[in-house]
Amino acid sequence: MKALALIGGFGTRLRPVTYVVPKQLIPLAGKPMLYHVLDLLPDDVEEVVLATGYMADAIDGYVRSHPPRWPIRTVRESEPLGTGGGMKNAAAGMSDPFYLLNSDVIAAADLGSMARRHRASGGVGTMALARVDDTRPYGVAALGDGDRITAFVEKPEPSDAPSHWINAGLSIWGRSVLDRIPPSRAVSFEREIVPGLLAEGVFGFRLAGYWDDAGTRERLLRAQRLLFDGGRGGDGRLPAGSTGDGPVAAMEGSSAAGASFGKYVTLGPRARVEPGARVEDSVVMDGAVVERGAHVVGSLVGPGVRVAAGSRVESAVLADGAPGTTR
Ligand code: GTP
Repeated sequence: MKALALIGGFGTRLRPVTYVVPKQLIPLAGKPMLYHVLDLLPDDVEEVVLATGYMADAIDGYVRSHPPRWPIRTVRESEPLGTGGGMKNAAAGMSDPFYLLNSDVIAAADLGSMARRHRASGGVGTMALARVDDTRPYGVAALGDGDRITAFVEKPEPSDAPSHWINAGLSIWGRSVLDRIPPSRAVSFEREIVPGLLAEGVFGFRLAGYWDDAGTRERLLRAQRLLFDGGRGGDGRLPAGSTGDGPVAAMEGSSAAGASFGKYVTLGPRARVEPGARVEDSVVMDGAVVERGAHVVGSLVGPGVRVAAGSRVESAVLADGAPGTTR
């Protein structure tokens, strides 16, 4: 099987950082979000196709310098085509069936068993479903016999939600669904195409482990905590010469001698935390500097940002050189 990963969104909810870096390259627990998603794919996947658009050059460059374990190819949109349009644009040579991945979901999921379940079901699609308490931001599945999906309700009020099982952004589809997507225009696969496929048999695959959609600051940091707690953040050891709790994922060339850490921190490549500074529950991206005595909590510090000595940054998304910078 091949896999098609959608990676062309603007990441508006993570602005201003997503003005300067695509969401999928933000490191969580020591690795870009995209690579945590790709890690879910079985080893025998034949090829991964990335449907890119926004900041495609940055993604191409990163993937070239950090090749994943499968052959990888990018197909770029010249204008945003939405999830369905992106699939259509990247459809040439797709396998039957194929994996479809949103590139911003963090999950413990056995996609190999999902593929086996898909083949056994005889349906046209199988969608991983995550159980959440608050269904309001999501597409919620109504489930019938054998977990066949009978309807999707988008962003329902709790009283209207047919279940607590939502579209987890990981699915498997027969190639025929690509023929259902109209060409050369923006299409939302979930809203415009999936409802019409339900009659052909679309089944839910309930995820048992953790899941989160890392699309906002709060959820991104929660996703990072899940990754560390799920053992996907490396050894989590404190950087040389620092003190505190950890886990900390210190990427290549980062340094933090004399600094202290709370729990759940990623230091991006060449990030520096100076003596007397403290970072907790945050991501400090490549080349950013947390100066002496500064304190960063619950924040996403963008590439190259300098957090001024002695200042306190809490629950913030910071980016340099971006419109709307909140620094
Ligand atoms: P927000 O703007 O903050 O909602 O984030 P987003 O742009 O990532 O949108 P959303 O989370 O709804 O997207 C779900 C997945 O589809 C993500 O992996 C996106 O990168 C991807 N995606 C969204 N729009 C497009 C598009 O127009 N083309 C392609 N190729 N992928 C898209």
